[in-house]
Amino acid sequence: MKRYPFFVVALAAIAGVVAFIIPSPGHADEATAAPYVTEIPQGYREWKWISSAHEAGKLNSLGAVLANDIGYKAFQQGTYPYPDGTIIAALHYRNTPSDENNKIFGQVQSFVPGAPTNIQFMVKDSTKYPATGGWGFGHFQNGKPADAAFMKPCFPCHQKAQGTDLVFTRYAP
Ligand code: HEC
Repeated sequence: MKRYPFFVVALAAIAGVVAFIIPSPGHADEATAAPYVTEIPQGYREWKWISSAHEAGKLNSLGAVLANDIGYKAFQQGTYPYPDGTIIAALHYRNTPSDENNKIFGQVQSFVPGAPTNIQFMVKDSTKYPATGGWGFGHFQNGKPADAAFMKPCFPCHQKAQGTDLVFTRYAP
């Protein structure tokens, strides 16, 4: 390894710290940082059911996807893009065996929503969220929004559902 005099190393370290502390106004990442949903949309629990999804493995989750009236119509008609005003909620729970039901069946075959884990939202507002396909993403645990770093992977992965306006879930008739 090449050896640098101590003061060079010290200077570099100080410069690094200063660069970290002083916000750079022209920094592209900050200027274009995608906003995300930080408040839980009102009344989501009363919305209509679109479909369900079970994730196995570590997630071991049971989820229900609901949509508000605007979203529900769009799901049902299968028209893209989803109109502004669409809100989709994904309610996630632990996928839990039901002892009560399994006693009736005489074997373990019944799984029901256990403890809630998180709620995710996709809010369509093309004026507010132009950088993320017109969708604002939201993730809440115990009623609190996740931080920006946690929200970063939402859009890139949902972009893979390009043909259905970034939404994976299909209307279950
Ligand atoms: C690795 C890819 C990936 C990432 C990252 C991801 N999602 Fe998803 N998301 C999916 C898939 C696949 C589904 C459909 C299956 C399901 O519901 O589990 C989905 C479903 C959803 C739904 C229901 C609507 C739909 O598109 O089907 C919402 C709302 C949602 N995700 C929000 C989020 C939020 C918020 C984040 C970031 C915290 C996020 N997702 C991160 C892949 C991803």
